[in-house]
Amino acid sequence: MPVTPLSAAGLAALPFSAAAERNAPHILQALSGWLAPQARVLEIASGTGQHAAHFVQAQPGWAWQPTEAEPRSLPVLAARCAGLAQVLPPRQLDVMVPAWPAEEEPFDAAFDAVYCANLLHIAPWPVTAAFFRRAARALRGQGVVVVYGPFVVDGEALAPSNAAFDADLRARNPAWGLRALADVVQAAARASLALQVRQAMPANNLLLRFGPAASPRAAVA
Ligand SMILES: C[S@@+](CC[C@H](N)C(=O)[O-])C[C@H]1O[C@@H](n2cnc3c(N)ncnc32)[C@H](O)[C@@H]1O
Repeated sequence: MPVTPLSAAGLAALPFSAAAERNAPHILQALSGWLAPQARVLEIASGTGQHAAHFVQAQPGWAWQPTEAEPRSLPVLAARCAGLAQVLPPRQLDVMVPAWPAEEEPFDAAFDAVYCANLLHIAPWPVTAAFFRRAARALRGQGVVVVYGPFVVDGEALAPSNAAFDADLRARNPAWGLRALADVVQAAARASLALQVRQAMPANNLLLRFGPAASPRAAVA
């Protein structure tokens, strides 16, 4: 059932991430250069839905599928994206659940891109492997996976803000923490995805684009 667009006051009352608001224009600029004007995108861990709403308003040809593991986020996503015709109804999707909707309750079509911001460090390490494995299966042939967040890069000193963030994450949950870029690239390779672009973003974050590696994905699924 369509959700009625919220008033400005209704939108202001929704859960809000100041970081998502700050980083959205920078991520959008990169995505706009990478994705076709009619791209179909699956977003994992959509959170408050700010990225979905921001991106489709600038790129009205994109079809955007928001998803979240947290059931309480689904009505928030629906409310924030109400009236944005290119945003598909939000779906519950936990990358650790073996049957994604893609398998049990299929999406209408495969995706040109899987996009995920700020998940890998706020989740136990097995989430990274599961994310790439399942993202690879959701993509069309030349589809790409785009990941945003802070990472530990071999040979580069961690910015003080990222070191403090990492310590805070590990104090909250010892299984969380900033991921080493090399480990992330290896997890992607096991899903036949290769790092194509590593772009520095404001506030010591990275935007990573992965695409099909030389060997066929199916062989590794
Ligand atoms: C820090 S928030 C990021 C939200 C949004 N992408 C952003 O950048 O503002 C992390 C999100 O990951 C979701 N999440 C945690 N574990 C997950 C999993 N196993 N599968 C999918 N989403 C998960 C949480 O519910 C949360 O909304």
